[in-house]
Amino acid sequence: EKLLPQKGRLAGKTVVVTAGGTREPLDPVRYLTNHSSGKMGFAIANAFKQAGANVTLIAVNPLITPSVGIKLIQVETALELLDAVQQQFIHADILVMAAAVADYRPAKVADKKIKKTADNQTMALELVRNPDILQKIATIKKPGQLVIGFAAETNDLISNATKKIQAKNLDMIVANDVSQTGIGFNADNNQVTFLFADGKQIKTAVESKPRIADQLIEIISKQMQK
Ligand code: CTP
Ligand code: CA
Repeated sequence: EKLLPQKGRLAGKTVVVTAGGTREPLDPVRYLTNHSSGKMGFAIANAFKQAGANVTLIAVNPLITPSVGIKLIQVETALELLDAVQQQFIHADILVMAAAVADYRPAKVADKKIKKTADNQTMALELVRNPDILQKIATIKKPGQLVIGFAAETNDLISNATKKIQAKNLDMIVANDVSQTGIGFNADNNQVTFLFADGKQIKTAVESKPRIADQLIEIISKQMQK
């Protein structure tokens, strides 16, 4: 069975999608990040646009150009992403958090390049926790707003993802096995399990990210009709 979004299905809906791995600066030339490429989030934004929604894409380091008509907001850090998501969510019907948010950031950002010295053979970096964006959104979410998260896991995919649905009060989570190369992080293909708050699961085949995005939009369209 092919799941393709019908044109115009989400006309009038306002959607916010986040994409990419946040960059947490250490000094003017260095940052901490992860392997997220942003491709999945971009594919989701494009699929929403195709379905007729008003789409805002909040992206870190966008290497890809989003489809015409998508509003792009560029951010770097988790704190900037939090700010942008909170502002955009107020007007949104749907939020999809595909961004890989750094859980920690350097406690201090040096204003000049950190130099190595002859006697420093090791270096310790102090990190502080970033706020959990989805947990903050859960506190302002109104009835009817749909919030969808991603879960990047290397092990115990379903049980870890299920805990995140509850902890972040999500309508759905896209559980993503990032332990295999070729799917997930930094890849063109993906295989995911859509997990719902009521325990329902739908596992996709290994497919291109645009095809996975189409299936996500199909599921969301059905959910919106309920
Ligand atoms: N997320 C978020 N804010 C954070 C960290 C994560 O909003 N500070 C979101 C991600 O965008 C994703 C979901 O939470 O949609 C799950 O992210 P993940 O990294 O898998 O889970 P964590 O809750 O950070 O737990 P851990 O990394 O310890 O598994
Ligand atoms: Ca995390």
